[in-house]
Amino acid sequence: MDHKETLDSLLHEMRVFRPLPQMLIDAGVNPQDLRAARELADIDLCAYWEEAAEELDWFTKWDKVCDSSDAPHFRWFTGARCNIVYNALDRHIETVNKNRLALIWEGEPGDSRQYTYYELYRAVNRFANGLKRLGVTKGDRVVLYMPQLPETVISMLACARIGAVHSLVFSGFSARLLRERLCEIKPRVVITADGFYRNGQVIRLKEEVDRALLSTPDGIAESVVVVHRANVEVEMDSARDCWYADLVRHERPHAPAEIMAADDPLFILHTSGTTGKPKGMVHSHGGYMVGVHRTFKWVFDLKPTDIFWCSADPGWITGHSYLVYGPLLAGTTTVMYEGHSLYPQADRMWNIVSKYGVTIFYTSPTQIRTLMRFGHRYPDQHDLSTLRILGAVGEPFNPEAWLWLYEIIGKGQCPVLDTWWQTETGMIMISPMPVSVLKPGSVTRPLPGVDADVVDSEGNPVPAGKGGFLVIRKPWPAMFSDVLGDRAEVMDHYWNRIPGMFYAGDVARKDEDGYFWIQGRADDVLNISGHRIGTAEVESALASHPHVAEAVVVGVPDKIKGQVAKGYVTLKHGVERTDDLHRELKEHIRRELGPIVVVRAIEFCDDLPKTSSGKILRTALKE
Ligand code: WT7
Repeated sequence: MDHKETLDSLLHEMRVFRPLPQMLIDAGVNPQDLRAARELADIDLCAYWEEAAEELDWFTKWDKVCDSSDAPHFRWFTGARCNIVYNALDRHIETVNKNRLALIWEGEPGDSRQYTYYELYRAVNRFANGLKRLGVTKGDRVVLYMPQLPETVISMLACARIGAVHSLVFSGFSARLLRERLCEIKPRVVITADGFYRNGQVIRLKEEVDRALLSTPDGIAESVVVVHRANVEVEMDSARDCWYADLVRHERPHAPAEIMAADDPLFILHTSGTTGKPKGMVHSHGGYMVGVHRTFKWVFDLKPTDIFWCSADPGWITGHSYLVYGPLLAGTTTVMYEGHSLYPQADRMWNIVSKYGVTIFYTSPTQIRTLMRFGHRYPDQHDLSTLRILGAVGEPFNPEAWLWLYEIIGKGQCPVLDTWWQTETGMIMISPMPVSVLKPGSVTRPLPGVDADVVDSEGNPVPAGKGGFLVIRKPWPAMFSDVLGDRAEVMDHYWNRIPGMFYAGDVARKDEDGYFWIQGRADDVLNISGHRIGTAEVESALASHPHVAEAVVVGVPDKIKGQVAKGYVTLKHGVERTDDLHRELKEHIRRELGPIVVVRAIEFCDDLPKTSSGKILRTALKE
């Protein structure tokens, strides 16, 4: 989509779900509060975020909430001093939270470890001292090439505590990609594990680090710290490598939290890059902390008895913001699972929910579609009655999968929150709250303090029902504070595509109620006979057929229509791939979307190509 045009929208989801009366009574933020917060943020954005910042501890308060003098390079809480880890740990051990569980971890083989806030505090301090002993100081970078282990959380916090900048590289990436990241980030230390368990296999990790470091320039990774997890034999280079356990054995469990400027870097994380090259985003201590804390507590309506489980890998922004920092800032219990969701069988997730009494489950549409293929037999075998809120992020949530989560997992009692945000935004931006009226497939409305809209390429709002570019007009505290590489070029990409607004790269529409519907990435828009259509709508229509588990649609060139759609489909368990079904699916699309969308071909597949974070690689299918 390039011109001053809008998108067509063909799919009309009419179902509406109202919050249960008890939810309205119990919610920490009720509809009136929400309205008041929106009004305050509309009138005085800084006042809204200042109030959110007051809920946290600062060594020194700010001179200015948001400094726009160098826009679009906005600086939040200038002059303030803080440390996010002080707020995630030290603050809690002065209260009843001291003895509360901070982290429940379950390994794939079924082993489990738990840390109270006090225990986590001690573990973080000891490792912080260990890192210092390796020469890590404020401003140094540390790469974490780690699976889902308690030590991953401890390492992130230990780095941040001493002012080092952590950068996670997803443990599913190969040595080649790790090497690329190491060359770009130039860390002083790399932290990894010998290996980990995944789908019944042991994945060797340290080996990949050795391979990646074989050919890197000098000065990268003076030390490698190795967590002992999977009992695999590894080669240790005595000049460079040490075991995590050896490093912390004699360290004291006390280490002061470094006093950081609010916009000092906290971490670097690359975008997942379904299109284009991944960009290294930098997030900082102050603004990120305020944005994540507020959105975590509000969106998930946190209660003192909650057990929060985010199934994302810590290697992605979701893991950073809502598996580690959000829950710990709020003093809640966070659950982490090492392994595969179908191991040893398709009820593993439900088993974890019932075993620990998970109350809030935050996952991805991909994950739900995967589990949905197995029907309700597995969920039925477990007690899921502790659940009270369900959420998802990452891609368009098609109504069929949304409804499955709502009905089969939530038993019609738990709101399903479809949350829209990005690595760049750091925090949830557009999302319902538990008291919102829900429409399956819609991310509903921007949170207070988020000025999102749908516009054409010149920045004019498009009318209700028409699609356009998703933009954010005003800054928000958890926005990336810097980037790796050519800052001017990256800033230009985000802020000058549509001058003066943050360009998110997604296409969306707003309905008559002001509800947002994400239609897909702007690069993936189909153009069929001049009609511009988001891929998400066609995919959602395909997936609404009872035999389809998951669908991807790409545009393929057509002499007459410019483009036509091609669908790739995985079927539910036990469904046969027949010519009849093929015909029926084409017919189904026609019924759902009308005659505009011409589907040239539908291919049945076992699996769809996805990025390691579960996003569909449309480019791979196009080729
Ligand atoms: C892109 C950002 C934020 C953590 C996960 C991904 C897509 C995200 C939704 C949603 C439709 C969504 C967008 C966005 N996306 N949430 N609720 N509905 N699409 O972070 O890897 O930075 O990807 O994910 O396309 O731009 P990310």
